[in-house]
Amino acid sequence: MAHLTLLLVMIFASATLSDLLIKDNAWHAWKEYYNKIYASDDEESLRYSIWINNLKMINQHNSDKSKSFTMEMNHLGDMTIKEVHLMLNGYNRMKETKSHGSDAVTFLPPSNVVLPKEVDWRTKGYVTPVKNQGQCGSCWAFSATGSLEGQHFKKTGKLVSLSEQNLVDCSLKFGNYGCDGGWMVRAFRYINANGGIDTEASYPYVGADEKCHFNKSDVGADDTGYVTVKSGDEDALKMAVGTVGPISVAIDAGHSSFAFYNGGVYVEPDCSTTFLDHGVLAVGYGTTEEGQDYWLVKNRLVISFRPSKCPVAVGEQAGEWKATSKWQETSTTCVELLPMQAILWFEGTLGDYELP
Ligand SMILES: *[C@@H]1O[C@H](CO)[C@@H](O)[C@H](O)[C@H]1NC(C)=O
Repeated sequence: MAHLTLLLVMIFASATLSDLLIKDNAWHAWKEYYNKIYASDDEESLRYSIWINNLKMINQHNSDKSKSFTMEMNHLGDMTIKEVHLMLNGYNRMKETKSHGSDAVTFLPPSNVVLPKEVDWRTKGYVTPVKNQGQCGSCWAFSATGSLEGQHFKKTGKLVSLSEQNLVDCSLKFGNYGCDGGWMVRAFRYINANGGIDTEASYPYVGADEKCHFNKSDVGADDTGYVTVKSGDEDALKMAVGTVGPISVAIDAGHSSFAFYNGGVYVEPDCSTTFLDHGVLAVGYGTTEEGQDYWLVKNRLVISFRPSKCPVAVGEQAGEWKATSKWQETSTTCVELLPMQAILWFEGTLGDYELP
């Protein structure tokens, strides 16, 4: 009798899930909006159960007013955090600090410097718009170009967007793995040995591994080397960001809170200070009105699909777009429906980085 009851419950439970799936208009709207097509009903059931769990988690988070940031459903909604992680985060963490190489010099904070309370290099012209990484584990390349773009601007007064694809295709000999991941310092070493990096315009991003076609006559910037900031030393990082410019950093992005981040000061209690999987760019720091210290971090967009009805513009306005995608509702404005990972500029926690 006990067995029968259990069996009935199980049948009822699974019927409820597919009933829910069929009736759930939000699910169908989300699926349609993001062009999700599943191979079978079983696959759809599985994806639906993941999606509904993510949605519950997001709603629960957002209803907690003590949180300093909000989350939002996006195109990653039908994936587990493990799957998201495998798809997007390409910063390969090496054991200890071997990845820095023997040529690495440690940053010595200048003495007698009074740091500003707030720094935002975007407002000083050091930072290019947020770029689209697509489905390629090339975050390390975006982080590297970001810091060199800043230093190039500092030196020449010209903001030149530099080619991530050049790094993806051509720095394999320096130990990077293209779309399968890499390290910012290895990108800097490649650029130095190569005699420069091409401009974004001459060597555009395709988001897949290609044959290297670097062309010396299209070089947009060069580096003479790099300096590392002591891992875990936030005062040194603050000094570096405050006096040098945007700095390449690595963070632990392997959490649902990151995948569905929407806005505010990102705080993840489970963030690791040693297991770092994502390269980004620290472009400033400050303190909120509530007294919370933050790092201002440039991340990348992840647009890997295009809704059929709306042209997707990537680039100029990217940094302006607030994550207001209202996929539950029908809307005709493309900007509101812009599909993207909700992270544009975000303010990170203190303490989760390694340099460069
Ligand atoms: C390199 O770029 C220059 C200028 O854009 C062009 O004239 C030349 O043909 C290019 N070389 C190759 C090998 O593509």
